[in-house]
Formats: sequence, C-alpha cells, structure tokens
Amino acid sequence: MRPRRALLFMPGDSERKIRKAAALDVDVVIMDLEDGVAWNRKEAARETVVEALNALDFGRSERAVRLNPAGSGLEADDLKATIEGRPDAYVLPKVESPGQLIWLDDILNQIETRNGWTRGGIRILAIVETALGIMNLTEIAQASRRVDALMFGAEDLIGDIGGVRTRAGWEVFYARSKLVTTAAAYNLQAIDMVFVDLHDLAGLEIECRQAVEMGYQGKMAIHPRQVPVIQQAFSPSAEQVETARRLIEAYRQYQRSGSGVFVLDGKMVDAPMIRAAERILEKVESK
Ligand code: COA
Ligand code: MG
Repeated sequence: MRPRRALLFMPGDSERKIRKAAALDVDVVIMDLEDGVAWNRKEAARETVVEALNALDFGRSERAVRLNPAGSGLEADDLKATIEGRPDAYVLPKVESPGQLIWLDDILNQIETRNGWTRGGIRILAIVETALGIMNLTEIAQASRRVDALMFGAEDLIGDIGGVRTRAGWEVFYARSKLVTTAAAYNLQAIDMVFVDLHDLAGLEIECRQAVEMGYQGKMAIHPRQVPVIQQAFSPSAEQVETARRLIEAYRQYQRSGSGVFVLDGKMVDAPMIRAAERILEKVESK
C-alpha cells in the first residue's frame, strides 16, 4: 500500500487551489465535491475536477476525488462526471454501512472492465464520521478489497452526536481509538482527523504526535502549510529508525543465546516491542 501521510483537501470548484496542490510535495491531493463545495457549485466543481485530472501534472501525488455520500442523490453523477479523468482513488464520506462501499466497488468494477483498466486499480478511502458509522466499523472495514484506508472525521461525528469539540479531543477519543483499532485488525490504513486551526502549527504537531502514538499512519490537511508538518510527523525520525535496528539486532542475538526477554538501555525488551520496531522499519522501506 502506498504511504498516505498528508492528505490535502481543497474545494473542487477552485482551480487555483487545485493547481497549487498539484505543485506541492504531498502524498495525496483530494479534490472535494462534498462539503467544501456550495450547493449551487456542485456542477462547476465536477467540471473543474475532471479538467484538472486530465490536464495537470500532480507529480508523485496520488490524485483523489471526494464524492458526495452514497445516498445523497449526487454521488452517481459525481462519479460519472469525473471517472474520465481516471483518478487514483475515490474518497467516500459519511460511510455508515458496507452496502455503500459495495455500491462504489461494483460501479468501479464495471467501469474498469469496460475500459480495459486494471481491475481494482482505482482505490477507495472511506471516511467514517457518524455515530452509526462508528458502530458499524467492523462491517465497513470488510466491505471491499478495494478499500485501502479508514479516515476519521471528528467534526461531523460531534455534529451527529451533539457534543462539543475541544482541543484535548477526549469527546472523540472512543471513536478515534475504535477506528485505528479496527483498521489495524483488517490491515487498512488509519487516517486521522482534520486540525481546523489553520495558524497553530505547534498545536497541529502535538495532535500529529498523539495520532502517531495511537497508531495512525496519516492525517487530513486543509491548508498547504499543514502538509510539511504532517508528513514530517508521520515519518519515523532517523533516531527512531536507528533504535529500531539496534533493538531487532539485539533481539536476534538474545534469541540465538536462548533468551526471549532482555534489557536494553535499562528497559525490558520482548516480542511486542520487536513488532513495533519492525513496523517502523517497514515504513522506511515502503517509501
Ligand atoms: N489547497 C491548495 N491551496 C490552498 C489551500 C488548499 N486546501 N488552502 C489555501 N490554499 C492556497 C490559497 O489559494 C492561497 O494561494 P494564493 O495566494 O496563490 O491564492 C494560499 O494557499 C494561502 O491561502 P490563505 O489565504 O492562507 O487561505 P484562504 O483564506 O485562501 O483559504 C480556506 C482558507 C480554509 C478556505 C482554505 O484553506 C481551504 O479551502 N481549505 C480546504 C477546505 C476544504 O476543502 N474543506 C473540506 C474538507 S475538510
Ligand atoms: Mg465530513
């Protein structure tokens, strides 16, 4: 699976922002047709997005389009209008049941077959951001092999629950934690919530660190200045990589000499820490 550390959104009707994003060193560009676009601009957004897909060079970035939710009445036309630009992925928001992902998977199967494109080539990223979606995470995670990632939408969730967003984020902690755990159980990537304070990069960094500690692999971004902060935070540091290598080497030696648990730098080390170290090295190698 390709690394997705920062996923930058922009309104699909803003050609200026799409151009700007295409020139950035960002893992994923998500051109939005949903909540970032006004009701009377949906049609214009579809046209701008398909033109951008056909005409712009996005460099190494993955090109993704966020559809309106399955069941909104807009989703089929969103897809029909943009598929000709052959995006790398579709982002489906407000996913609440496996059926919504199966709908998208079926249509993409038909389109890929008809065009002679690689079957399953277009990936799906699912945003879960309603109370019902959180309750159905287990089924959602198993809906389609085309799904690469579960993304956690905190603002919509709190709107749905009727709570209040706080900086500490304890009000979404259960859902944020359930999503990353479910993603791990079914070998999916977990992408963390948006940080809405556009100017507080120190706060963003703290929230990224928290997400890394929880096991998230990436985070949504809404402004170009958030991108380097996020991509840095979700890349293991040289020191972490070095420590992971040392740990695995020591573990092999101790295993050979017949002990499963040992002490390194004053701390106990056994198999679970080795698994964590291996995951750090996998991240470096997958780049
Ligand atoms: N993607 C690409 N470029 C962006 C961008 C984004 N998400 N956000 C801002 N920019 C560009 C602006 O166009 C501007 O470039 P310019 O001077 O060449 O025109 C530059 O970065 C600085 O922007 P700034 O003035 O700081 O922001 P703004 O006031 O123009 O826009 C927002 C603020 C929040 C409206 C804007 O950041 C945005 O649209 N974010 C994405 C919102 C979204 O998609 N939400 C739905 C998903 S959660
Ligand atoms: Mg949302």
